[in-house]
Amino acid sequence: MMEQHQIKEVKLAPIRNGTVIDHIRCGQALNVMKILKVNESNIDSCISIGMHVASSKGAQWKDIIKIEDRELDSRSVDKIALIAPEATISIIRDYYVAEKYPVRLGEKVVGLARCSNPNCITNKGEPILTEFTVIRRNPVEIRCCYCDRILLNVSDNLL
Ligand SMILES: Nc1ncnc2c1ncn2[C@@H]1O[C@H](COP(=O)(O)OP(=O)(O)OP(=O)(O)O)[C@@H](O)[C@H]1O
Ligand SMILES: [Mg+2]
Ligand SMILES: [Zn+2]
Repeated sequence: MMEQHQIKEVKLAPIRNGTVIDHIRCGQALNVMKILKVNESNIDSCISIGMHVASSKGAQWKDIIKIEDRELDSRSVDKIALIAPEATISIIRDYYVAEKYPVRLGEKVVGLARCSNPNCITNKGEPILTEFTVIRRNPVEIRCCYCDRILLNVSDNLL
């Protein structure tokens, strides 16, 4: 049991406006950063990343990312669900949590990842979207609907 006087969690610098991605599965923060496609030429604000910080709910450890002055598009959120299925997204406005929602993983994953089978029809230059069935939720396992190959390394195969 945690005692009352203990600090609840590691506090990164508060932000006025932006997005917090919390409860990221431990070890996935840098893969989430890859999904956000942040680089020196497209960002002009602060990002704080906490890795392997104590969590007060769910798993004992988590990663967390706070990005100033940025909101996420739904495609990025759907990709985050694949590698961090318990993550929550909070939109911060004027220092307060204006919106908060969990990432959501549907039954199918369409057009978000490539199949790792080089002989799969989706890797032959045909104009078709990849499609996977979710066969396990945490950690996520997905199976290609075209060739039945299970995608083992999701984060390296995100589109
Ligand atoms: N002004 C802010 N700047 C940076 N981060 C913030 C700010 N306000 C809230 N947060 C973060 O946004 C997330 C959601 O805030 P909330 O107050 O709902 O946290 P919580 O009660 O710890 O919720 P949870 O049960 O999801 O852990 C938390 O990670 C919190 O640290
Ligand atoms: Mg919390
Ligand atoms: Zn396939």
